[in-house]
Amino acid sequence: MWSSSAVARNTAVLLTISLLQLARGSPVVKSGVINYSFPDDFIFGVSTAAYQIEGGWNEGGKGESMWDTFLHEHPTFTVDHSNGDVAADSYHHYMEDIEMIKKLGVQSYRMSISWTRILPNGTDNNINQEGVKYYRTLFEELVKANITPVVTLYHWDMPTPFMKLGGWTNAKVIDYFEDYARVAFRLYGDLVKMWLTVNEPHEGCLSGYGQATLAPAMNSHGLGIYLCTHNNLLAHARVYRMYEKEFKPLQKGKVSLPFESAWAEPHDPNKADDVEAAENYLQMHLGMFAHPIFSEEGDYPRVVREKIDNMSRLQGYSRSRLPYFTDEEVKALRGSADFFSLNHYTALSNTPSAMESYFKVPSLHQDTGVRILVYPSWPKPFIRWQYLYPQGFRKLVNWLQNKYKILKEIPIIITENGFADFGGIEDYDRVDYYNDFLYQLLLAIHEDGCNVKGYFAWSLMDDFEWIDGYKHKFGLYSVDFNSPNRTRTPKLSAYNYANIVRTRRIDFDYIKRPEGLNTIALK
Ligand code: BGC
Repeated sequence: MWSSSAVARNTAVLLTISLLQLARGSPVVKSGVINYSFPDDFIFGVSTAAYQIEGGWNEGGKGESMWDTFLHEHPTFTVDHSNGDVAADSYHHYMEDIEMIKKLGVQSYRMSISWTRILPNGTDNNINQEGVKYYRTLFEELVKANITPVVTLYHWDMPTPFMKLGGWTNAKVIDYFEDYARVAFRLYGDLVKMWLTVNEPHEGCLSGYGQATLAPAMNSHGLGIYLCTHNNLLAHARVYRMYEKEFKPLQKGKVSLPFESAWAEPHDPNKADDVEAAENYLQMHLGMFAHPIFSEEGDYPRVVREKIDNMSRLQGYSRSRLPYFTDEEVKALRGSADFFSLNHYTALSNTPSAMESYFKVPSLHQDTGVRILVYPSWPKPFIRWQYLYPQGFRKLVNWLQNKYKILKEIPIIITENGFADFGGIEDYDRVDYYNDFLYQLLLAIHEDGCNVKGYFAWSLMDDFEWIDGYKHKFGLYSVDFNSPNRTRTPKLSAYNYANIVRTRRIDFDYIKRPEGLNTIALK
């Protein structure tokens, strides 16, 4: 951990009110240490994903993933025409990464395995021993350093052969995903006790299959998106039940899958229609994924089923574009998670829409039927999709806690939350972001009684941000992508986060903004 003098060297003197603080709304805290603290059993961590940091795309016997192939074939897909061939080169610098994690003082590290590093063709007939060894060493070193690995099996890097067969629209891929998961559990289950199956089915299916903003850019809005959703959920359930039967009795680990969600605020909270629109948005974008697993009755939420079935009928389809689960599948999915893994970044507001031309036809957005707006008062500092409304975080956690009774017994763990800027070590805005969002989490825990037991910051370091390439930075550590060593340097937000982790409290005065630097630069 760092000494406070190290922090002092990096900080200036006066705290002023930032836009973030103005946006924070009631209850507003401008300075000082917050009285509430994070409970003793609350886990702090940091997150990354293989394709975004690892590099070594063709080294050590690794096979090609969808992102390797897709970006080599479509080099202009990303805003800066970059790819993850080298990224932060964690393939060679993982020991440095572990040192960085140790300095933060966090108890846990969420990362992902690149499927094709251990199974180059995606199938279990060919296991790449060099790849196996890479992750084995990494997990051993983490455990040696007292850092609990939380491992995502699939953070969007589908083996290329399966992408060519339709990716997640092909239900057969579920079998191969199960085989891969079994290999991973067998190889690493002695060291890894927390597993995540499929990262963010909503984002992966919406952007990758329903739009063209993530690979494989299928743009099958309204159809492929739901095949992907359905198969992602089934793939998760299959792996959960397989672990439960074959590994859990001995390995005693926990399994879940991360859902990401924006908070949806009624555009006018006094209008019943807007309140309903926001609720519909949450059901269609989060409930569709979470309800089959966490609700008492299982299956897709009724409103989701009705909306997509009705719209499909109106459009002349003889079957719903959203497939149906069999009774056995409903049963396999219900209760198939040992904790709720939530990723959260932004907020939006909703109102019903009568404008047909507003949506692609057919599409998730048309099926949802609500307009996506934002409040002008919410700052949108750097990246096109991130609006700052920290209270939305508290509201979202409460929404889940109220919706799913099981969350009294199993906890919510925030597996991603973070802030994008254009880089730089003196990242006062990111410091504010973490203070403000963690403060809302404290309120959710202490004032609302929400069962939140962990928080992972996204991200440990600057990384490859999918379609945004290296333009936007999320790291607590900066990475110099022009240096051959990919030099890593802690930002102010790293010192601030380490202080929160160490003291279990938020001190709004710990990192002080220099006088005059009092707003987020709106781009
Ligand atoms: C994804 C990450 C991504 C982050 C920020 C999340 O939805 O899981 O891979 O880097 O958002 O864009």
